Amino acid sequence: MPQTGVALRGPSVTFRGDPFGSTPTEALHYEPDALVLLRAGRIDAFGSAAALLPGLPADTTIRHYPRGLLVPGFVDCHVHYAQLEMVGSAGRPLLEWLEQFTFPAELAFGDERHAERVAAQFLNELQRNGTTTAAVFATVHPQSVDALFRVAEPTGLRIVAGKCLMDRHAPDGLRDSVQQGYDDSAALITRWHGRGRLGYAITPRFVASSSDAQLEAAGALWRAHPGTLLQSHLSENTAEVEWIRALYPQSRDYVDVFDRFGLLGRGAIHAHGIHLSERERSRLAQTGTALAHCPTSNLFLGSGLFDLQAAVRRDRPIPVGLATDVGAGTTLSMLATMGAAMHVAQLRGTPLAPAQALWLGTAGAARALTLEHRVGNLEVGLDADVVVLDPNATPFIAARTARVRDVHELLGVLMTLGDDRCIRETWADGRSVWIRPS
Ligand code: GUN
Ligand code: ZN
Repeated sequence: MPQTGVALRGPSVTFRGDPFGSTPTEALHYEPDALVLLRAGRIDAFGSAAALLPGLPADTTIRHYPRGLLVPGFVDCHVHYAQLEMVGSAGRPLLEWLEQFTFPAELAFGDERHAERVAAQFLNELQRNGTTTAAVFATVHPQSVDALFRVAEPTGLRIVAGKCLMDRHAPDGLRDSVQQGYDDSAALITRWHGRGRLGYAITPRFVASSSDAQLEAAGALWRAHPGTLLQSHLSENTAEVEWIRALYPQSRDYVDVFDRFGLLGRGAIHAHGIHLSERERSRLAQTGTALAHCPTSNLFLGSGLFDLQAAVRRDRPIPVGLATDVGAGTTLSMLATMGAAMHVAQLRGTPLAPAQALWLGTAGAARALTLEHRVGNLEVGLDADVVVLDPNATPFIAARTARVRDVHELLGVLMTLGDDRCIRETWADGRSVWIRPS
């Protein structure tokens, strides 16, 4: 029996192109009264309500949001769920922050019950923030991935995750071995990859925390499992870059270390990429390797200001997606993260348009994860992931948005003033998974 459809009606924004390739106003399409028909977890129809209403099957349930704004579900392409409980551990740069706060917090995830509890909290926060797809780092413990996937499966969210491979430069209790890391990852892939909306990402933490043999094994594992992703960290902090140079004197640069071990290519997504040379950027572009831009994390750890314009250069674009990177990142709100991306761009003297920031957190992040045929836009055939934004979430936000001249200004204001309060409702996999209490 065909499943009854649900139609979401209201003003909407979608993308008709890449706002870095064309002008932001051309790429963003505003429909003042749109209809998104959701059926069996997919977007079955999208267009103006006037055009679609007459042809809707009689049993369609219509949800009308005349004062909302329908946008694609947000995509967070780099976040650590096990760092939820240490967000805001301030005052140290990356390497000290890892040692003092991060590693101790991650040690607790050997306990699967603890992992399940934090996973439930994390996934609930994603729903509350309108994030319907995320690429997630678990910890070195395979049970931390089992716990996350087990709790994620019924949520309707699309979750890509992997266990950290780390066999050196980490404390006792947080190291695996080459063989153990390989076997545990392979077993997790068999158990979870491609099950419903779940997918696996092979996750060498960063090249300082894996031996040559483990990086070699990570590359072999990735090649042995086509369709899996590969995620890591790259060129985040100057002291880290110096350390990598000392560990790999024979490599040309940081990107070259990844290259030597077969860890570049389409489906690889590396966070940060702040201190890159032009050679490194060219090599990322040439191989189709994506970067996750994590503005709140980079500000919090004082890592640097990501050069987005250099990354997306039209003659050799690197796929870039936006990410929260909690717990170095300071929020799970992609809306607030879009605002932070605009702040970083301002500091670099190359302003980011709101349409571009929205694209980075939806269609751009989907492309970075090679999921552009599944999520990131409101388009027939894509997964039924829709966020209903609320321009009247608070008296102040309502007063400010009442004065906007167009949808670009509205988006900019919501990214500046908004966060989870502006998420009226989250639809994932065709189901309502979060309604803000009124
Ligand atoms: N580099 C290696 N591990 C991490 C991590 O957990 N967070 C960040 N921001 N950078 C890293
Ligand atoms: Zn990270």
